[in-house]
Amino acid sequence: MGRLENKVAVITGSATGIGQATALVFAEQGAKVVCADVNLEKAQETVEKIKQAGGQAEAIHVDVTQVDSVENLSTHLKETYGSIDVLFNNAGIDQQGGKVHEYPIELFDQIIAVDLRGTFLTSKFLIPLMLEKGGSIINTSSMSGRAADLNRSGYNAAKGGITNFTRAMAIDYARDRIRVNSLSPGTIETPLIDTLVGGKDEDQGKQFRDANAWITPMGRLGKPREMATVALFLASDDSSYVTGEDITADGGIMA
Ligand code: NAI
Repeated sequence: MGRLENKVAVITGSATGIGQATALVFAEQGAKVVCADVNLEKAQETVEKIKQAGGQAEAIHVDVTQVDSVENLSTHLKETYGSIDVLFNNAGIDQQGGKVHEYPIELFDQIIAVDLRGTFLTSKFLIPLMLEKGGSIINTSSMSGRAADLNRSGYNAAKGGITNFTRAMAIDYARDRIRVNSLSPGTIETPLIDTLVGGKDEDQGKQFRDANAWITPMGRLGKPREMATVALFLASDDSSYVTGEDITADGGIMA
């Protein structure tokens, strides 16, 4: 019997990277997985992978920055499943913007809108589907929510916000049996890294990966599946007395 048998798990940002890996792991553990992403075509590819492995999943379009879009997701989930058990708020973007006085206002707004406000909006509209039975919410913070990065103040602000927003949610819903925790990845090998270094420039990408592997005590970047298994712990009853907590999975960088 899987650790998420008969559970409905919604994962935002599940078209690629950590979200996709988590969708696969949750489905392997018996969950019905809802892959919600702004990139529907790629989210559909995640669903196909799950189905090929014998799991259950569907893809649905959502833009976590848009109230109407998140409300539509909530309505669809209510009509299809009645309630949900797990919400993994994982959709996120990252980009360097320069020092604060040079940082483009639009980029700052965009990162806050997807990463921080998106986590708020999805939680706001999906929590009502958990109130009756309880559940588990996992927000995606980052080691960049605990410490600062050069030229990435927007991302640092968003992720630092998510870590404390998680604590606020945890105490608000503790008596409703909804646990809320965050996962803080280190540097993980996903498409997000290419956006961060400004495209798929091979030299820059290699430099970034090598430098990050070098500063990581384990000497390598993390794999998306290594985040998925931490998310599984937080989603499942294995963490039934854990709420308001942040788990860092970074190969030892923050140690
Ligand atoms: P990724 O780029 O592979 O995945 C991000 C996903 O979010 C994509 O599927 C994308 O389509 C989706 N997305 C973007 N904007 C959206 C929107 N407005 N509405 C709905 N979906 C949207 O990146 P990765 O690395 O898998 O990132 C997942 C999460 O992990 C993000 O929150 C990121 O900040 C966080 N993270 C990643 C780290 C890394 O080194 N890769 C390190 C620390 C945190």
